[in-house]
Amino acid sequence: MIMWEELIQKAMEQLEYSYAPYSDFKVGAALLAADGRIFTGCNVENAAYTPSNCAERTAFFKAVSEGARDFKAIAIVGGRHGIIRDYCTPCGVCRQVMIEFCVPEDFQIIAAKNRTDYKVYTLAELLPGAFSPESLGEAEE
Ligand code: THU
Repeated sequence: MIMWEELIQKAMEQLEYSYAPYSDFKVGAALLAADGRIFTGCNVENAAYTPSNCAERTAFFKAVSEGARDFKAIAIVGGRHGIIRDYCTPCGVCRQVMIEFCVPEDFQIIAAKNRTDYKVYTLAELLPGAFSPESLGEAEE
């Protein structure tokens, strides 16, 4: 799909900005909002380790801070030294951030090796039995 190829391309461009001096595992992400905007992100590590942020969360937090709340898909690429050898799926913390804003059956996660070699998952597939905003039993704001 052309849209996925563009999203993957943008995720790959983020590898250049990845700040990963500790793991040397560089990750790039590109998040497609419902209004058509694309928000990019890379992982940003820290000498204290735990403050490190994944590429996916960087993209989500950039998007939400720019007023986007509805999302369609995210493309993710990653690999040691910035060389993509395998599909990079999001960590559990990032999946939890996704479910805060996304409809799990609709939101698509594109784990790519390159522009044309990728796997597409729904968030529901990658985070079954999730604890979501609905779990709190509160109506949406
Ligand atoms: N990382 C991401 O940015 N996204 C993922 O989907 C997997 C892991 C980052 C976190 C850390 O900076 C490095 O990759 C190694 O785990």
